[in-house]
Amino acid sequence: MAIAAPPRFDPAFRAQLAALFAWRRDVRRFSAEPLPEGTLEGLLDLATLAPSVGLSQPWRFVTVADAGRREAVRANFRACNAQALACQEGERAARYAALKLAGLDEAPCHFAVFNEDDPAQGRGLGRATMPETTAYSTVMAVHTLWLAARASGLGLGWVSILDPPTLTALLDVPRHWRFIGYFCLGMPSAQDDTPELERLGWECRSLRADQHLLR
Ligand SMILES: Cc1cc2nc3c(=O)[nH]c(=O)nc-3n(C[C@H](O)[C@H](O)[C@H](O)COP(=O)(O)O)c2cc1C
Repeated sequence: MAIAAPPRFDPAFRAQLAALFAWRRDVRRFSAEPLPEGTLEGLLDLATLAPSVGLSQPWRFVTVADAGRREAVRANFRACNAQALACQEGERAARYAALKLAGLDEAPCHFAVFNEDDPAQGRGLGRATMPETTAYSTVMAVHTLWLAARASGLGLGWVSILDPPTLTALLDVPRHWRFIGYFCLGMPSAQDDTPELERLGWECRSLRADQHLLR
């Protein structure tokens, strides 16, 4: 039930929104400055506005404040990243080694995101033929949070170079939760409108959608 008149999104707002998309960035370089109390909670509340299949809201957020667990996550990242480096060949290996692929050492706030693959909420609607839609829904919540963080001047970095079973055990969550990603949140120490992987010559970004026209 609507409780307020719908807002009008004017051209100035749309321009700001486009700037938000353009300046979002995956952030791996943070100032260690702690976040004001309640910052993450405010962002998580906004994340719950994301769409979800059957309104299932299958996202599960786990804040990791404990120093021992954070160190164990870092150790897992180092091990997985070393394996990934070992898979790079020739000149790529040196390029890979030069990349900074997580802000786990500096970021003041760490959280993991899991997906409940078969939640009671939503009563199964919409996912009988595509069970993966619950995970898609959780990623929608991550993206909502990502943009909300950037709009508040914060940076978010997604860390996927981790072993999901290890993370699930380490963070003491129910075994049936599916690991979606680990996230670093904080004040970015630098800002840019170009992805870091592009600036470092790892990959080029296309600004044209891969669109196919069927006539
Ligand atoms: C599912 C997913 C997993 C990612 N995992 C990592 C990661 O482990 N480490 C990392 O540095 N960046 C990671 N990224 C960030 C991407 O590298 C980044 O989004 C891409 O280079 C484009 O840069 P931008 O987000 O600044 O536009 C991940 C992004 C997504 C969507």
